[in-house]
Amino acid sequence: MLSTTFSLLAVLVTVSKAALTKRMACPDGNLVSNLACCALFPVLEDIQTNMFADDDCSEAAHATLRVAFHDAIGWSLTQPSFGTGADGSIFIFAEQELSYDANLHIADAFNLEAPFIANHSIGVADFIQFAAAVGLTKCPGVLRPPFLLGRVDATAPAPDGTVPEPFQNVTTILARMADAGFSPAELVALLASHSIGGVHTAPNSPGLPFDSTPSTFDTQFYLETLLTGTLGTVGNGAVETAIAGTLRLQSDSLLARDLRTSCLWQANVNNQALMATSFQAAFAKMQVVGQNILNMVDCSDVIPEPPVLSTTAAQAFYPPGLSRSNIQQSCLLPFPILLPTKPGAPETVPPIAQDPATDGPCQDDGSDCVASFTKST
Ligand code: HEM
Ligand SMILES: *[C@@H]1O[C@H](CO)[C@@H](O)[C@H](O)[C@H]1NC(C)=O
Ligand SMILES: *[C@@H]1O[C@H](CO)[C@@H](O)[C@H](O)[C@H]1NC(C)=O
Repeated sequence: MLSTTFSLLAVLVTVSKAALTKRMACPDGNLVSNLACCALFPVLEDIQTNMFADDDCSEAAHATLRVAFHDAIGWSLTQPSFGTGADGSIFIFAEQELSYDANLHIADAFNLEAPFIANHSIGVADFIQFAAAVGLTKCPGVLRPPFLLGRVDATAPAPDGTVPEPFQNVTTILARMADAGFSPAELVALLASHSIGGVHTAPNSPGLPFDSTPSTFDTQFYLETLLTGTLGTVGNGAVETAIAGTLRLQSDSLLARDLRTSCLWQANVNNQALMATSFQAAFAKMQVVGQNILNMVDCSDVIPEPPVLSTTAAQAFYPPGLSRSNIQQSCLLPFPILLPTKPGAPETVPPIAQDPATDGPCQDDGSDCVASFTKST
């Protein structure tokens, strides 16, 4: 009874707080809780129309998300030389940072985003995280990401070695993430990102998806990485996959099977709510790595509402021809039972189309990755 009263009180407090949050009108009529957020609407409108145009969670959304991670992870709790986190250094010092092995193909994101950053008076670090958050809202299954404004742009590049690599072992990857402030659970949550997107095997070539549904933020990625691999290109950080047309990263494969992470991984299978909520929290943390949130403004109300993934569409399934017997389970907890197998013959997943706007002067080795950005900070 007492606890019921308390939770009722909590609900009432939350409701009245929400009702009391003052919403102010921007000059363009948009309502915000802080007028500093008004500056984001022209940026939002521009990227909605011209960067994510007709993008239903395809390459522009994938590329903007990946670079947001690679920028943010330039940070260490122990080594100040590792960078200042989500600070825009990956674009501001692109000629240096994009030459690092782990940043291969981030040039795509640079070519895509640099013209927009140059056209708006928004900081580079803020733009990178804003574009990633808006890009995510194109992906069915994502929960609306929060967004804080006011990062301080970098004055120096991050060194090589801050971004985990697909050929590294679990110990090395977990240590790097822990050194940047992320637990194994948060890493597994963040890797929901690999449910959208894939690898580029060559510059300007179509991408090989990580799962059979690369434009849906669903749990297929966590399921399919647990299937016994029998096909595909191996080496350079890739291991055998179970589904033709897809590519499995060695790091994803190891994390799915390692006893330190396998139960965290498996828990996401057919649990859309867990995947979406844990990603939302870990992503919010990632977006402000190294930044002082006390100096930032909550502009979450600028982020659009993502499309809903229906319960039917969120149902995990075995790809055609595969079943429970193909799962390589390390976690000792029960595996979700009675998942359906998609009917029909085994399919080849089509490649992810390249977005022509990712092609530009900036090269994969970092050369010609220069732009004049207007700095707002
Ligand atoms: C263990 C940590 C990780 C490793 C080793 C890793 C490695 C990779 C590799 C090798 C690619 C392929 C890049 C290409 O060839 O174009 C990739 C793609 C991608 N990664 Fe990760 N990643 C990790 C964590 C993350 C995290 C935490 C995020 C975001 C929060 C992320 C987001 C993405 C996205 C969205 C793509 C697809 C890019 C596209 O399709 O254009 N990754 N990752
Ligand atoms: C930037 O602004 C210029 C001048 O208004 C315009 O011609 C160009 O298309 C804009 N570029 C982008 C990427 O918005
Ligand atoms: C992981 O990789 C690191 C660096 O290559 C190596 O020193 C270490 O022995 C490896 N650990 C395991 C458990 O394989």
